[in-house]
Amino acid sequence: MTTEFFSNDNLHLAHEIVSRYPVKKSALIPLLHLAQEQHGWVCDDAMRQIADLTGTTPAEVRGTGTFYEMFKFHPVGKYVVNVCTNISCQLLGGEELLAHAEQTLGVKAGGTTADGLFTLEDVECIAACTEAPCLQVNYRYRLKVTDDDFDTLIADLRAGRTAEIPEHGTLAAVRQHIPADAMAGIVPPEQATEMPVWLSRNNQDAGGQG
Ligand code: FES
Repeated sequence: MTTEFFSNDNLHLAHEIVSRYPVKKSALIPLLHLAQEQHGWVCDDAMRQIADLTGTTPAEVRGTGTFYEMFKFHPVGKYVVNVCTNISCQLLGGEELLAHAEQTLGVKAGGTTADGLFTLEDVECIAACTEAPCLQVNYRYRLKVTDDDFDTLIADLRAGRTAEIPEHGTLAAVRQHIPADAMAGIVPPEQATEMPVWLSRNNQDAGGQG
């Protein structure tokens, strides 16, 4: 039975995404992103409909998605604030910054503010070690952050002055669309009747050298 989670527009997009892959199951990750973009996190109804769309089970959807830290399977704030406390950031005040963030937001790391705006996370290295201490808001970086910078950032987010930071779940400002005539025309391996172009080209190259 189909479980309705996706909006009409996103369901249309979901079918387009599935059609890009020779095996439906390969669309699982992009559909998890689409669900999270629509809802802010991945709920049970989303997993059921993704399973329907990809010919898998909700358990497989969850089992795949939970491998990735960026997918949330519980409600999170509109803004997920990741403060790095790994070694480079720790040496330059990352733990103190996290303590300040907890005080400013009134929640411990892992918590969400009562107004649902912010989820605070204590995270491992986010690959900006030369700019420590640093943090991300919905995976957008803030570098060499002071306590005052943090408070300004939170005030700006509350006031809607941060257009470059979309709601949690939105990966890109511009969505990719592949025109039908630009599709690769790939088929599942078991239905292939001829060798893929790239493979036959490699074989020709190898033959030419021999
Ligand atoms: S240790 Fe914080 S970004 Fe690498």
